[in-house]
Amino acid sequence: MSEIRDQCIWITGAGSGIGQALVRLLVAQNNFLIISGRGSEQLLEVQKLCPQRIRLLPCDVGNDEDMQRAKSELESLTDQLDLVIACAGTCEYEDDLRLDTASYRRVFDSNFFGVVNTLRTALPLLNHRAAGKTPPVFAAVGSLSSVVGMPRAEAYGASKAALGYFLDAVRADTARVPLRIVEIRPGFIDTPLTASNDFSMPFLMTPEKAAQRILAGLSSGARTIDFPRRLSWPLRLMGCMQSLWFGLVAPRLTRIHQLRHRI
Ligand SMILES: NC(=O)c1ccc[n+]([C@@H]2O[C@H](COP(=O)([O-])OP(=O)(O)OC[C@H]3O[C@@H](n4cnc5c(N)ncnc54)[C@H](OP(=O)(O)O)[C@@H]3O)[C@@H](O)[C@H]2O)c1
Repeated sequence: MSEIRDQCIWITGAGSGIGQALVRLLVAQNNFLIISGRGSEQLLEVQKLCPQRIRLLPCDVGNDEDMQRAKSELESLTDQLDLVIACAGTCEYEDDLRLDTASYRRVFDSNFFGVVNTLRTALPLLNHRAAGKTPPVFAAVGSLSSVVGMPRAEAYGASKAALGYFLDAVRADTARVPLRIVEIRPGFIDTPLTASNDFSMPFLMTPEKAAQRILAGLSSGARTIDFPRRLSWPLRLMGCMQSLWFGLVAPRLTRIHQLRHRI
């Protein structure tokens, strides 16, 4: 397994949580990092880890115009990228099946269109392969929640499931070019995203541990990086045994006992 070292890497969602933990590990391995998020203050804090090897590229990945500006800035920072990790994302739970489309759009803007925009911005810089070097990698963070239909996760899970299909299709379309597409599907990680969750989160991991698992998966050449296995295997099994999931497990998880009458 080769360590990721001396590479030029762009990470979105790098101001906190999993993204920030990835920056910590990657900067310690002598990589040059370009870090993105909407909040410049958080990014400036992260840059303090190693100002010589970390550059800031604040942007809203879900905003097409902002990403147009970010593209020129990115091209002024580097003329090639070895690895991109699209980690930016958000979560809004669906309460009482309100089907509030504004919430769905916010979630899809960051989690789905944000990754499309990130790939569009990075693609010209990923189009290279030096002799003897492994191909460039585009990785995006999905979620194990997309493996089965989770109560309250209609918007979040759908955005991550759409992301999974998108990555598969891009992988198919780039099958003859030197570009590796990777889907990362974590379970529950202890970050600001999950800090206000009021339900039990089995096998909760630290962002540091999650970042280690991601880097090990990226180094191993995997196409999909699912972790922890203790959660991913049962969920994948449930994905194959739908009657068990919807008949036995989902009724215990849902908070809806009755549909409210709406006019
Ligand atoms: N924590 C978990 O249990 C878990 C599980 C599975 C998957 N994930 C996924 O892992 C990724 C990282 O999440 P996390 O847990 O580390 O949460 P986090 O600490 O909240 O990190 C998410 C980061 O994304 C940035 N971001 C959100 N929307 C953005 C946008 N439109 N443009 C640019 N940056 C944006 C946020 O910064 P700004 O607000 O400053 O922009 C934040 O720094 C997400 O894709 C999440 O869905 C998390």
